[in-house]
Amino acid sequence: MNLKIGVIKGDGIGPEIVTEAVKVLDKISEIYGHTCDYTQLLMGGASIDVHGVPLTDDTVAEAKNCDAVLMGSIGGDAKTSPWYQLEPSKRPEAGLLRIRKELNLFANLRPAVLYDELKGACPLKEEITAGGFDMMIMRELTGGLYFGERKTVSEDGVMTAYDSLTYNENEIRRIARRGFDIAMKRRKKVTSVDKANVLDSSRLWRKVVEEVAADYPEVTLEHMLVDNCAMQLVKDPKQFDVILTENMFGDILSDEASMVTGSIGMLASASLNETKFGLYEPSGGSAPDIAGKGIANPIATILSAAMMLKFSFDLDKEADAIERAVAKVLEEGYRTIDIMSDGKEQVGTEKMGDLIAGYIE
Ligand code: IPM
Ligand code: MN
Repeated sequence: MNLKIGVIKGDGIGPEIVTEAVKVLDKISEIYGHTCDYTQLLMGGASIDVHGVPLTDDTVAEAKNCDAVLMGSIGGDAKTSPWYQLEPSKRPEAGLLRIRKELNLFANLRPAVLYDELKGACPLKEEITAGGFDMMIMRELTGGLYFGERKTVSEDGVMTAYDSLTYNENEIRRIARRGFDIAMKRRKKVTSVDKANVLDSSRLWRKVVEEVAADYPEVTLEHMLVDNCAMQLVKDPKQFDVILTENMFGDILSDEASMVTGSIGMLASASLNETKFGLYEPSGGSAPDIAGKGIANPIATILSAAMMLKFSFDLDKEADAIERAVAKVLEEGYRTIDIMSDGKEQVGTEKMGDLIAGYIE
């Protein structure tokens, strides 16, 4: 099969971690007889440096022309990087938000799994993590506060900022359906997270999710308030199968969920639209503090490449081979610094990529 893949290396650790994911994809291609046709795309700070904007129309068109896009991370240090002297709509993050919107990537899947071998890196007590956990955070990605109208104005001499949180029923319905579809392939439980005791958008969310649930009688639905969910994630993460939630809550809860798996360097993600197209990226940021040091954990990006093979190309066997290779390096005791614990062997970004590629069979 020929895989037409857009590659956004991005900023910070992005180029380092994407290089390792491409290495693993090349190994998969070699063993399973595929060809990967990569198109390099500029986004974020890397695009600002060349074009003055974080995403050009041409890049959007090129991305649309690919079957899937693999991305590293974008953004820099807000205190020191000149990118943050620009107005907000020209900063690196604006490129990411625009590509999500332009490609209609409304469904963001962030699986948070505690690997047995990484229990040592998990900050929770052993009695809480015994037996591991495996949840899928389904974050709505093209609505809500991220895309509502915003402005900062002076009202009677008082600076006042507005960000509006809007959802219509269609936006809620399509992500809810996706969440229930995924739950059907898992443990058939959906926890819909909202703030329905305060927000109108959450009350509509709850109503629409209940309507959708009626079409999935086998799936157990529960509603949870977002503040309670933040607490439950550290108190009893095993209770979750699919967490279905709006954009901002999903942003926050997925970082929390990643930390209870040991490290944000382990958390893959897929952003999908109604077609097979997807944008695949690690959930972590560009980590400018460790960029260029060769110590970043490439595993989340490599697992994102596995998600790409599964969701955009239906190459389940190949995706499983990547997941097995990742499990194998962990079993063998190799760790990047973020997941290092006593008695293990610490390796850098490149070595981790080599090892995983080497374990592909
Ligand atoms: C993420 C990131 C982005 C987000 C930022 C970089 C705009 O934190 O993908 O979770 O908030 O969605
Ligand atoms: Mn985030």
